[in-house]
Amino acid sequence: MNISLKAADKKPLYKDPNAPVEKRIDDLLNRMTLEEKVGQMNQFVGIEHIKTAVANLSKEELKTNTASAFYPGFTHKNVEDWTKNGLIGSFLHVLTLSEANYLQSLAMQSKLQIPILFGIDAIHGNANAPDNTVYPTNIGLASSFDTEMAYKIARQTAKEMRAMNMHWTFNPNVEVARDQRWGRVGETYGEDPYLVSRLGEQTVKGYQGNLNSNENVLACVKHFVGGSEPLNGTNGAPTDLSERTIREVFFPPFKAGADAGAMSFMTAHNELNGIPCHANEWLMNDVLRKEWGFKGFIVSDWMDIEHMSDLHGTAENLKEAFYQSIMAGMDMHMHGIHWNELVTELVKEGRIPESRIDQSVRRILDIKFRLGLFENPFADEKQSMKVRLNPEHRATALEASRNSIVLLKNNGILPLTNKYKNVLVTGINTNDMNILGDWSAVQKDENVITILEGLKMISPETNFDFVDQGWDPRNMNPKKVKEAIAKAQKSDLNIVVAGDYMMRFRWTERTSGEDTDRSDLDLVGLQNELIEKISASGKPTILILVSGKPLSIEKQANQASAVIEAWEPGMYGGQAVAEIVYGKINPSAKLPVTMPRSVGQLQMIYNHKPSQYFHPYVITSSEPLYPFGYGLSYTTYKYSNLKLSETTIPQTGNINVCLDVTNSGTRDGVEIVQLYIRDKFSQVTRPVKELKDFARVSLKAGETKTVTFSITPEKLMFLDKKLNPVVEPGEFIVMVGSSSRDSDLLKQSFFVK
Ligand code: GLC
Repeated sequence: MNISLKAADKKPLYKDPNAPVEKRIDDLLNRMTLEEKVGQMNQFVGIEHIKTAVANLSKEELKTNTASAFYPGFTHKNVEDWTKNGLIGSFLHVLTLSEANYLQSLAMQSKLQIPILFGIDAIHGNANAPDNTVYPTNIGLASSFDTEMAYKIARQTAKEMRAMNMHWTFNPNVEVARDQRWGRVGETYGEDPYLVSRLGEQTVKGYQGNLNSNENVLACVKHFVGGSEPLNGTNGAPTDLSERTIREVFFPPFKAGADAGAMSFMTAHNELNGIPCHANEWLMNDVLRKEWGFKGFIVSDWMDIEHMSDLHGTAENLKEAFYQSIMAGMDMHMHGIHWNELVTELVKEGRIPESRIDQSVRRILDIKFRLGLFENPFADEKQSMKVRLNPEHRATALEASRNSIVLLKNNGILPLTNKYKNVLVTGINTNDMNILGDWSAVQKDENVITILEGLKMISPETNFDFVDQGWDPRNMNPKKVKEAIAKAQKSDLNIVVAGDYMMRFRWTERTSGEDTDRSDLDLVGLQNELIEKISASGKPTILILVSGKPLSIEKQANQASAVIEAWEPGMYGGQAVAEIVYGKINPSAKLPVTMPRSVGQLQMIYNHKPSQYFHPYVITSSEPLYPFGYGLSYTTYKYSNLKLSETTIPQTGNINVCLDVTNSGTRDGVEIVQLYIRDKFSQVTRPVKELKDFARVSLKAGETKTVTFSITPEKLMFLDKKLNPVVEPGEFIVMVGSSSRDSDLLKQSFFVK
């Protein structure tokens, strides 16, 4: 018997999970009003965030403080109503599953029931929300040179995000960090385009998979482009770069992200050569879409379209700003009010064709369909904590932390033996969850091992005398400093844990991180006095830094017996640091960013042009304190037998490089072998060296392994005078070794005919 379904009961095509996505988009688009389409292009901050702001901020701040103020004249009730009416496509800064599910339930009351896309800054795990695994931040991951770990962390983060009904992470940040004053160095993979590219692409793949399951999330490659070389080191300041530098240094990691299939990009706060990135058609359409074939959508950064009008002055008002940005290629607005009505107006006035709106809405709906949000708009509260912070993820966080910590100096005192019975431990980062780093919410104490806790855990028989300097470097107590200095005389050994302060819940008290840039690289407050006077006690002193970026610690490093850069090592950072200090773990990490001696040396990058130090500084050194790629171990490695498969190759030829690496010490370890290349003579100037490959090589004590790299034409290519890619005939120098320092490199030439 045929039972014909009443038309009203027939499920619309767009709700049919078996229908092709393109067809579902077409069908849904045809059912949408202009207002609903424009709403899909708009993102709001979560309602709990709004309530908190309204509760905590003054009326004046609510009008002006774009960092945490929201929607003057409107309340979270308005936001709930707009959601119920299908006029909001996405939310960010929703920090609990219950809020995400609640907002989604409102969207499910709308006529078309288009699910909300939830975005969050899951930069190193979904750390920006409570009760999630917190891995080392990106600079620490980069110090491991471990692309497999990058993939693994992204994979696990995706699972934890979806368990919280989060669908989209605003990561990887693939900016090439070229100014250590900039507060966000810790959020990047460092200063080398090749390393940043390899880590960024694996992170995209780890997040997205093929974007077709509820264990995948949408990646967002950011910030496009150039904000990591701001003219004065401050976040969002103008960037003025030649197209050559943009294409040779800054574009490669973004292109690698696009090639890896990233389906969202975020434009950068800054103007680039006079044009705000948020209205930069060259970036968004010509390069990203036409040159690179990007098919995803572009989201603005935080109120940056508004800033075209209220900051950059390239738009006389908000409506013009929205118009310019959309016509330059922008697809989604982060975030809030006025977008819906003004963009709808622009379309009704005929200034923006509805077809342009449809283009953006298609891109956004494509992701929502592919992520399965129409079928699974909610996440199960009962299952959530079975995924988040699970044992496998915790183990990964600890492993990544161990591999992220860089041993910079060791006069032989490390690893510590238990002959040091009485150990003074002091410094702002000794016993604080600041080791979680930037983009971290406060996590439960039981899920964080501080450095003091780690030391006690690893060496229970040692008497650690902890003098608490508090967490705030700006407000250290001179009496506590004095107390520590006095105790240093009587201890067997001193450990000072110094650095920056990055925790976001104390936004204005931070000394590093987003919108927290410095005009120097010095340790803040009484830290230098603390370190110097303790080091002068005559007892061995170990300096441990917890920071997101290099600090100028030349004097302090010279006085200390050992120096460790722990970066922002994550939830188990204290354990990992202690395991390295006591030798349970042999450190293997290497610097992904140059550590200058002082801010005055900037710009200080390893891959500089030949004339960079044609005239070295007088009085002060032109050498970094610690170079890119540098890091010590408790064993030693010898490099030998560098061989090239050819001495001459055609311009399209490959060449294999092999060498022996021997663990010539007494401990097993992992060595990060680095391959650099220099084009000796070329029609335009080329860097003195460029990283073109690397490998993590595990070696037992006494073991030798032959390491092989392949040099392809792409690794020899540069942009000629007309910015066309070329491999020029001539001599190339291959350099292989343990750091970018010349004295650490074996060299050999080959020729391209
Ligand atoms: C910030 C950051 C960006 C982040 C966004 C949402 O301004 O620049 O990296 O993803 O806002 O939090």
